[in-house]
Amino acid sequence: IKWVIFIHLLYLMISDMCLEKHELRGKVVWVTGASSGIGEELAYQLSKIGALLAISARREDELERVKKKCLRNNLGEKDILVLRLDLTDRSSHEAATNSVLKHFGKIDVLVNNGGRSQRSLFVDTNLDVYSAIMELNYLGTISLTKHVLNHMIQRKKGKIVTVSSVMGIMGAPLASGYCASKHALQGFFNSLRTELTDYPEISIINICPGPVQSKIIQNVFTENLAKNSGDQSHKMPTDRCVRLTLVSTANDLKEAWISDHPYLAVCYLWQYAPTWAWWLMNRMGKRRIQNFKSGVDADASYSRKKK
Ligand SMILES: NC(=O)c1ccc[n+]([C@@H]2O[C@H](COP(=O)([O-])OP(=O)(O)OC[C@H]3O[C@@H](n4cnc5c(N)ncnc54)[C@H](OP(=O)(O)O)[C@@H]3O)[C@@H](O)[C@H]2O)c1
Repeated sequence: IKWVIFIHLLYLMISDMCLEKHELRGKVVWVTGASSGIGEELAYQLSKIGALLAISARREDELERVKKKCLRNNLGEKDILVLRLDLTDRSSHEAATNSVLKHFGKIDVLVNNGGRSQRSLFVDTNLDVYSAIMELNYLGTISLTKHVLNHMIQRKKGKIVTVSSVMGIMGAPLASGYCASKHALQGFFNSLRTELTDYPEISIINICPGPVQSKIIQNVFTENLAKNSGDQSHKMPTDRCVRLTLVSTANDLKEAWISDHPYLAVCYLWQYAPTWAWWLMNRMGKRRIQNFKSGVDADASYSRKKK
C-alpha cells in the first residue's frame, strides 16, 4: 500500500510539473511584444512545448530572428506566424485578429504582453507621456482583447493572459503613469472576468511580475539611459518568469505574483498589512529616487545580488 501511495504521489507531482506541456501543446497562442524580453522568451518556451505561435510586435526583423530560433524547437514553418502589430494602432487590430484566425483557424490563448514602462517623476513629466502610456499599455491591450474575445465567446473557450506587473497592485515612485496603466489593466480584467460567468471555459489570467531581466529599461519612456549601468543581475531571470507564467496559464490562475524579494514581500504587506507597506515603501521609494538621480538602476541597491 505504501508503494501504491508513493507511486501515486510521484505521478501527481510529475503530472503537475508537466501540466503546462499537456495544456498548451498544439494550442494556438498569440503573443504580443514577442520581439524582446518576456515575450521573446515566451515564444521559445511555448515552441519547445509544441504550441502553435503567432508572434507580434512592431519590429518585424526582430520577430523573424525570434521565429528562426523557434523553428529549431521542432516547429514547422506554418506553425509560427510573424504578424507585425502596433498596439497603439487600434484600427488595425480587427484585421490582425482575422489574419491569425485565417492562418490557424482559431486562437486558444492570447498573451497580452507588449508594453513599455516609465522612469520619471510626475512633476518633471509632460502629460503627453501619460497619454502615450495609457494608449499603449491599457487601451492597446483592451482593444486587441475585444477582437479576440469575440472569437473566444463564439467558441465558448479560451485564455486571455495579461502581463500586468506588481506595479498593478502597489504604487512606486518614478513610474506613476506606468503604475496607473497596470492598475487600469487589473481593474479592467478583474471586471471582465465577472462579465464572463456564462463562459466558464474562458479564463482571464493576470500575471504580475516584479523586476525581470529584459529590455524594459532601455525602452522606457523618459529616462536618461546614458547614465544607466545596464546591470540586471538583481532581477529575476527571464526564463524563470516565463516558466511560472506558463504554469499559471495552464492552471488558470486568476492572478499570479511572480517576483523575488523584497518586491514579493512588499506585495504581501501591501495586501495584508498596508501600514507596514507604506512605512517600507517610503524608505525604498526614497532610495529609488536617489538612485535614479545619481544614474544607477533605480532598484539596484535594495535587491539581493545574485552571482
Ligand atoms: N521586465 C520587467 O521588469 C517587467 C516587470 C513587470 C511587468 N513587465 C511587463 O512585461 C511586458 C513585457 O516587457 P519586457 O520586460 O519584456 O520589456 P521589453 O524587452 O522592452 O519588451 C517589450 C515588448 O513590447 C513591444 N512593444 C512596445 N511598444 C509596442 C507597440 N506600440 N506595439 C506593439 N508592441 C510593442 C516591444 O516590441 P517592439 O518594440 O518591436 O514593438 C517588445 O517586444 C510589459 O507589458 C511590461 O510592462 C515587465
